[in-house]
Amino acid sequence: MRNTIQGIQDMKRHGDRIAMLTAYDYSTAKLVDAAGVPMILVGDTLGMVMLGYETTLHVTMDDMVRHIQAVVRGTSQALVVGDLPFMSYQASSDDAVRNAGRFLQDGGAQAVKLEGGVPMAATVRRIVDCGIPVMGHIGLTPQSVNQLGGYKVQGRTPEVASRLLDDARALEEAGAFSIVLECVPAPLSARITEGLSIPTIGIGAGPHCDGQVQVIHDILGLFSDLRPRHARRYAEVGDVIREALQQYVADVVAGTFPTAKESFSMDERILDTLSPAAASSA
Ligand code: KIV
Repeated sequence: MRNTIQGIQDMKRHGDRIAMLTAYDYSTAKLVDAAGVPMILVGDTLGMVMLGYETTLHVTMDDMVRHIQAVVRGTSQALVVGDLPFMSYQASSDDAVRNAGRFLQDGGAQAVKLEGGVPMAATVRRIVDCGIPVMGHIGLTPQSVNQLGGYKVQGRTPEVASRLLDDARALEEAGAFSIVLECVPAPLSARITEGLSIPTIGIGAGPHCDGQVQVIHDILGLFSDLRPRHARRYAEVGDVIREALQQYVADVVAGTFPTAKESFSMDERILDTLSPAAASSA
């Protein structure tokens, strides 16, 4: 049975840490699910790691729905959270409700995530009131990269630290079931986490959050364009793939692939019944 938002919230109550990961496709989602990850984010980072854009700003609702469907098909246990892309919820709360609903109805996700604190609280409330669980996301909010002036740690000044505390409280009051804290100094994340009854999920937000989320490409060494400081490399899968592919090319070029074992046989007398192959004119 799939995890529920109540199950995720119980983990905070019981002091169990929550390991969340992104996934964007069927095969990877199967591996993540089998590893016992209780909550998967189909993040709009797919724009960068899957589609090759420089930022997440170009990702569309159709991109997200297609990838959410694949992840849902690949999972049976994990709660799947779909990331609302840029401009799918900011212009009006009607847009937000309709697009969040599409993630559940067409995509099969169990929850949605959106970026922003106090200014988004009313929108979160409207989506939650429609029966759609919402995960908040504050701190470094990549959809606002142009306003933030880059991908920078947030909350090192008294003003921003205090604003982040207000954002977290506003999201909890609006009914968010959990909040991502991205690139927030560890002591501030600890303060935010202590003050909330809903789980915080950190990415670059230190060890005191109730859970952690990482982009799967970052922890597996699959994305070489960026290497975020907060991501620990658990494997160098990119190197393994590169070596395997070089070996494949070498085998094809040398004629050692395929062998008889990798080919299909037939009754070769049938060949005698066929018209002779035309001689090559070269
Ligand atoms: O899109 C994403 O993958 C995210 C995580 C970085 C939290 O929002």
